[in-house]
Parts: sequence; C-alpha cells; structure tokens
Amino acid sequence: MSLPRETVLKELGLWPRWQLKQRAAAPAQQEGRAQIIARMDWDELTHAILQCTACPLHLTRTQAVPGVGDRNADWLVVGEAPGAEEDAKGEPFVGQAGRLLDAMLAAIDLARGENVYIANVLKCRPPGNRNPAPEEVAACLPYLMRQIELLRPKITFAVGRFAAQALLDTDEPIGRLRGRVHRYHGIPVVVSYHPAYLLRNPADKAKAWEDLCLARRVAAEARPAASPGP
Ligand code: URA
Repeated sequence: MSLPRETVLKELGLWPRWQLKQRAAAPAQQEGRAQIIARMDWDELTHAILQCTACPLHLTRTQAVPGVGDRNADWLVVGEAPGAEEDAKGEPFVGQAGRLLDAMLAAIDLARGENVYIANVLKCRPPGNRNPAPEEVAACLPYLMRQIELLRPKITFAVGRFAAQALLDTDEPIGRLRGRVHRYHGIPVVVSYHPAYLLRNPADKAKAWEDLCLARRVAAEARPAASPGP
C-alpha cells in the first residue's frame, strides 16, 4: 500500500509544517525527492520552493526566489542564483544585471512576463553572492528541471557559466558553449554571457547580441512544444 502524499512530502522535507532540517539530504533521499518534484504542478512547485529546506541556503535567505513570468512562455531565461536584491524582492534579475537582461530582451521585442519566464538554477541566495556549491546545485536542480518540463519552452537561454554547465551537465567553458544550439530533454538551449559579466566586459555585448539572435532564430523555427509527459 502506498503512503499518503502528505506523509511522503513530510518525510522529504517538502511539506510546509515539516521541521527545518539542517543538512542537505543524502543522495538516495535526494533521488526520491526529485521524483516527487517531477510530478508537481506549477502551484505545488512554487510552494515547495518557497518552503524548501533541502540545503543550508534556507538558513540565510530572506526568501526563496522561484521564478517570474508567463507560464506559457516560448522563452525561458535561466540565470545562476538570486543576489541581494532578488533575495529581498523574491523575484529573479531585479538588480543591475536584471536591468541589462531586460534591455537585452527588449532589443528582440521581448519583455519580462510576456512570453518569457525567468528562473535561476539556485532558488536561494548564496551568502555574499559566492559561487553556488555543487551540493546546492544538486539539491536545487530538480526544481528547474520541473519548471522546464512544465513550460516546454521553444528556447532556453542560459546566461552565465553556472546556468549553462548545470543545464548541459558539462564543465566546458562558456566560450566553447556559446555560438551553437544544445539540447536539454529535446528543448533547444542557447548559451550566452551572464549580464553581470557583460556589465564588467561591455566589449562582449556584441557576442551576447549574436547569441540572442541565434536564440530568436531557433525559437522562430521551433515546432509547438509537446505537452509534458505523465
Ligand atoms: N544573477 C542571476 O544569475 N540571477 C539573478 O536572479 C540575479 C542575478
């Protein structure tokens, strides 16, 4: 006989009233948790992210940042992790880098919330904006995977090394990943520089523009997305 859903969710740290757990889950537990996340609908997923205690980042966050935008969008933009402003506001890319991202999207006639969904690999801010740790990425990735599965976007635009490497499960540098079309579960992925990097290295904005144009071409050519599996 299978256990009631609430009992399983409680066991896996996904139920709101479940006690805070201080350590990241062990690999086998992570796997079971990932399977549960893979069956969630949008609202369950958002709720689970907001209540997540799967890694120690929940101890230092103000709030988790699930993602923002159109749940039927053709475009998914994936960044690294919330910074201080995102942690305070609960929305991805609202700081200086976010303003550049908005300008990049506007350059191809897209706007936050209109045919674009924006999410990060990590849903909680790493303290001091340090790089995400591998175990944090492992704990958080099932959320992004489910977001992608629910969205089935025509194009995923991964900005920055962490987003690209996490999605494509590679350690290739960004310079080798950009400029071509990758696939994640059949969904086209185009990689580009992170807006924060572009703020520091404006000369590379021309390359980011090429990446955006490539992504726009791929999205335009894409057939309607297949509906998610059971
Ligand atoms: N950088 C990111 O990668 N994501 C954000 O949400 C903000 C800054």
